[in-house]
This record gives sequence, C-alpha cells and structure tokens, in this order.
Amino acid sequence: MLLSFMKAQSSATAPNWESLPALRADTPGAGNVIHFNNAGCGLLPRPVLQAMHDHLDLEAQIGGYEASAARSVQVREFYTGLAALIGAGPDNIAFSGSATHAYATALSAIPFGPGDIILTTRNDFVSNQIAFLSLRRRFGVEIMHAPDLPTGGVDVEAMARLMKEHRPRLVAATHIPTNSGLVQPVAEIGRHCRELDLLYLVDACQSVGQYPIDVEEIGCDLLTGTCRKFLRGPRGSGFLFVSDRVLRAGYEPLFIDMHGADWSAAGEYRPSETASRFEEWEFPYATVLGCAAAVRYARGVGLELISRRTPYLAGLLRDGLDELSGVRALDQGEQLGALVTIEVEGWEAVEFKAAMDARGINSALSYRRLAQFDFGDKDVDWCLRLSPHYYNTEDEVARVVAAVADLRAGR
Ligand SMILES: Cc1ncc(COP(=O)(O)O)c(C=O)c1O
Repeated sequence: MLLSFMKAQSSATAPNWESLPALRADTPGAGNVIHFNNAGCGLLPRPVLQAMHDHLDLEAQIGGYEASAARSVQVREFYTGLAALIGAGPDNIAFSGSATHAYATALSAIPFGPGDIILTTRNDFVSNQIAFLSLRRRFGVEIMHAPDLPTGGVDVEAMARLMKEHRPRLVAATHIPTNSGLVQPVAEIGRHCRELDLLYLVDACQSVGQYPIDVEEIGCDLLTGTCRKFLRGPRGSGFLFVSDRVLRAGYEPLFIDMHGADWSAAGEYRPSETASRFEEWEFPYATVLGCAAAVRYARGVGLELISRRTPYLAGLLRDGLDELSGVRALDQGEQLGALVTIEVEGWEAVEFKAAMDARGINSALSYRRLAQFDFGDKDVDWCLRLSPHYYNTEDEVARVVAAVADLRAGR
C-alpha cells in the first residue's frame, strides 16, 4: 500500500522519491533528530546554509555595505524567486524580519476609523487577533468572527453573508492556523471579496512551502508569510505580498522610511512605486540570500510534489495516533495539512514534550492562550503539535507513533 503510493507519487512529478535519500543527505539535521516541528521551523538544507555562510564570509572580507552591493543580483533573486513561487511580480514583494512584522506593517497601511469592521475567522493566528484587538482599543474598530462549520473550519457562505451585510473595511483569513491541521478555503473567501471589492489580507505563514500558493487564485490584496517554516529558510525572515490594486490605491505603512519613500522636499515625501514602500532600509542580507536559496530549493523539489507528500505523511501519523487509547486527535476540517495535534491523557504539556525531546523527537506545544476559540470549542488547554515535512520518512512516522504509544502506556 505504502509502496504503491510512493510509486504513484514518483511517476507523477520530478524528483521522484528515489531522490529522498539525496534530499535527506542535503539536510544536515536529518540524521540527528526526528524533526516533526516544521511548523515551528524547517530544517535548513545545505544550499541555504551555504548561501548564508558565504555572505557572512564576504561581509567579513570586504565590508557589509560592499558585500551587499557585490551580491545585488543574487539579492534580486529573492524577489523574482518568491514572486514566481506565489504567482506575483517581483515588485509586489517586500522582505520583512518576520511574518508578524509584515502583517502589522500591512495593517498599519489601512486608515481604520471608529466603527470600521474587520471580518475574520475563529482560526486566525493569535498575533493577528491581538493586533485586531489593539486596533479596536486604539481606533474603535469592530471585530467580527465568521462562524465555523460543525465539521470545522470557517463557514464561507456565512462569511459571505456578513461581507454583504456589513461591508467590512478588511477581510482577514489565516490559510493554515498554528494550532491545528485545518486548511482554510482562502480562495473561496477571496472570490467573495473580489465580487464585493473588499480588501483581503491572507496569512499564509504555514502554507507557503507546504502548498502551491497563487495570489491571483486566492484573490487577495495582501498576503504574509515566513521563509523559516515549510520553505526551510532561515529564522528572522518574512515577507509581504502587496497587489498592484493596493499599490495603485496609494496604501503605505504608517512608518515609512528612506528606503520606502523619497524625502522629495523639506515638507514632502514620495512613497516608492513598488512594495518596497513596505520595507525598511536595513536588511539582514545573509538572511535574504538564505531565503532566496530556500525558495530556489523548494521550487526545485516542486510544490506539487511537496503538497502531496507532506499531508500524506501527516495523514499516516494522524491515523497511527488515532488508534492509540488515551490519545485524542484534535484536527478538524474538510482539508487537513501537515500539522497534527493531539491531547494525551495523564500527562502535563511540558513534561510530555520533554519526554519526546529525550527520545530525539522534535515537536511543539500549543496552549489555549494561542487559540482561544479553537481550544475553547475542543475544551482542551494544551496540545502537542507534530508537523512532518516531505523530507521526513514513513519510518520516522512509525517511530513517533511508537514513542507516543509507549509514553501513554507508561501512565
Ligand atoms: C499561522 C501563523 N501566522 C503567523 C505566524 C507568525 O510568524 P512569525 O513568527 O514569523 O512572525 C505564525 C508562526 O507560528 C503562524 O503559525
């Protein structure tokens, strides 16, 4: 059964899974740990590491400003590569130090006033929810959460009705939340936004690198992501996609610097024509070059292939864990991705994760304070999150299931 799946995968797209050993050999951490925390941070492949080392060496050899000038063509490849990955143009991409920073910068460009409505979902990322609450506190915006379907995930039809009735200033949706395996139907939401000409912001932090992303198909105006998770890039990186519609309409971040704008006269400034108006002057160039290498690497492996292999491994894991008594699988929704969340009877969060760590298995914890609605509905205070990626193996899945079974049986 497994073998036939692998064959079907390999005949469909290159590289076939015969290249899995090579992909793992390219991953220095793969031999050290069972890394099921890709939703936290993916393991770096060698070319990413090399790109960053090379640039730091160059900075040490010739100077930081001189090194970035010498590598301007390669820096540009971050924009062209990421643009190709998400179906955008290079001038629609802004680099950022984190997805959260990109998100906050995007929000800061919207001139919210009292009574403006932000329509979002019950599964939007914790920091986005906090940002909305902060906007409510400062500017008196109103926050609406579209209801979920009984099977999990947002009820798009109900959300569309709220759009029509309330004409929100902003519609915001997180593609894949941090706290469960749910994949939200962001393109369906986007179709309604386009029909009604509503501003639409998507958080694709967990989905970029896991699924093919096409901003045209999603119909979003703004989209944020990171390079460190399923793209397997470095920490301290994020990005913002800004549509031509938004650029033409003149949206600009509240705090715009000398990179994003020209100080054209003593009392005037002119924002740049491109998404660079959402960037800052100072850049971690080694990180940007690492991101460019990560995007190249992901495109080389192939997003179609990744988007089938990764949820497949997560599905195997979910099925294995589901059979264990005292272990509750928490993921709900029509489409489930690479994040697998469980509650384990008889254990406290920190000690359970520590016991997994001790077995050489990387995982993560999620708490109610990170997912008030979702964990409230499921009546859980914490969960263990396991998130494989394409370079993980079926054998690792089996070892993780065995470890959870063993730990559970010990209580
Ligand atoms: C869905 C989602 N959005 C946003 C973020 C924030 O990303 P960053 O830590 O780069 O700000 C995360 C991080 O886990 C996430 O899972």
